[in-house]
Amino acid sequence: MKLHDLRQQYKKGSLNEDNMPADPILFFKEWFKEAMQYHQFEANACVLSTTAGNRPSSRVILLKEIDSDGFVFFTNYLSRKGKELSDNSFASLNFFWADLERQVRIEGKVSKIDQVESDRYFISRPIESQISAIISPQSSVIESKMELLKRKNSFINNDVNLQRPENWGGYHLIPDYFEFWQGGADRLHDRIIYKIIGVAQWKKNRLAP
Ligand SMILES: Cc1cc2nc3c(=O)[nH]c(=O)nc-3n(C[C@H](O)[C@H](O)[C@H](O)COP(=O)(O)O)c2cc1C
Repeated sequence: MKLHDLRQQYKKGSLNEDNMPADPILFFKEWFKEAMQYHQFEANACVLSTTAGNRPSSRVILLKEIDSDGFVFFTNYLSRKGKELSDNSFASLNFFWADLERQVRIEGKVSKIDQVESDRYFISRPIESQISAIISPQSSVIESKMELLKRKNSFINNDVNLQRPENWGGYHLIPDYFEFWQGGADRLHDRIIYKIIGVAQWKKNRLAP
């Protein structure tokens, strides 16, 4: 099978900017709801891109909250992404819902959420996940998988209190740019962007595919 020959037609929908709300977060919520209803696998998974100097890096994370001004995800603040975000707080999120032939691109500024909110989310996670977050020095080189398992066992055996480590918590991305992409026939896709132009004021435009 040649990659050149892989070719899909997109035909599930279209976008009309005149029918889209003034607030892109509202539109995101509509699409997100549809992605959940469509049983998209891990509909809340998205690619988070950050930069170190002029070098970008990307990884998948899980979106855990959508509020009226942005998006929340959780991670290790000392991970590669955490270090990059402390150098440059601008980041992007990218959702691809393949079965709906949709992509959403979001850009904005990220800051750490309140520690109390991070605590609340941390203790809501299954105990095993809490332990893993505590014992895993995310993004550091480790000797072996065995080393991690030993840490996990010694943590469990010593009956240490489960407490959110200071270096683990949430980030809130406040968006200033959105693109909603809906696949179209013959590669004439719909791309509607929103740029922030004032407090809670957005300007919509259509981009060429
Ligand atoms: C479906 C999926 C969901 C993930 N969710 C998270 C997440 O919510 N938080 C997180 O820190 N890493 C998550 N990861 C792991 C990251 O992709 C990445 O490996 C890790 O955060 C380390 O990235 P970094 O070294 O660039 O900081 C997820 C990976 C996948 C494939």
